[in-house]
Amino acid sequence: MPTVLFVNACIRGRDSRTLALSERLLAQIREANEKDLAFRIEEIRLSTENLLPLNHERLQRREELLASGQHEDTMFDYANAVAQADMLVIAAPCWNMSFPAMLQIFFEAASVAGITYVCDADGTTRGLCRAQDMYYVTTSGGKAHNFGTDYIAALRRLYGIEKLHVVSAEGLDVENADVRAIIDAACSREFD
Ligand SMILES: Cc1cc2nc3c(=O)[nH]c(=O)nc-3n(C[C@H](O)[C@H](O)[C@H](O)COP(=O)(O)O)c2cc1C
Repeated sequence: MPTVLFVNACIRGRDSRTLALSERLLAQIREANEKDLAFRIEEIRLSTENLLPLNHERLQRREELLASGQHEDTMFDYANAVAQADMLVIAAPCWNMSFPAMLQIFFEAASVAGITYVCDADGTTRGLCRAQDMYYVTTSGGKAHNFGTDYIAALRRLYGIEKLHVVSAEGLDVENADVRAIIDAACSREFD
């Protein structure tokens, strides 16, 4: 399992609890693969990327590139990285009941018909991604529903990834919360 794609949407950087939680997971994954010399973790740190949502001009360009089969254009770098990764780890705090907008822009760029999935003639979709496992690491201040999880579960189906594992620590901003204990207790569970 050579390449783990780590999509880091922990906007607060070193102070991020979500980043701390994802670093634990990545350490476990690294340990499980320590004998594989080809193993590597490739990080895309969204807060230092030049992420732009599709506007009229960029959408037109994207459609022209796809119509002429230019899947290697840099516009599709995120889509190709997602499609070719052997495992995906997405880390994002809960913001406004979901995840930061930067991650949505990343998914917009990464979800490309012909690269990460394909649409069949009858309208059904088939995933084209190599990964079998996707992890979603998240923390939230309260305990209300995080709709980001539902969206990411739908994405893993679109991409054709077999399993979604969620690592979530909730209630971190509740008064007197024992943040360290909550993070220590967070463990991976399969989500569908
Ligand atoms: C812009 C913003 C929006 C937030 N929205 C929510 C929310 O909808 N629900 C919630 O439980 N916590 C919310 N929080 C709190 C964060 O989810 C919580 O503090 C989280 O642990 C932050 O993760 P981090 O330490 O990795 O930055 C929000 C925080 C920020 C800064």
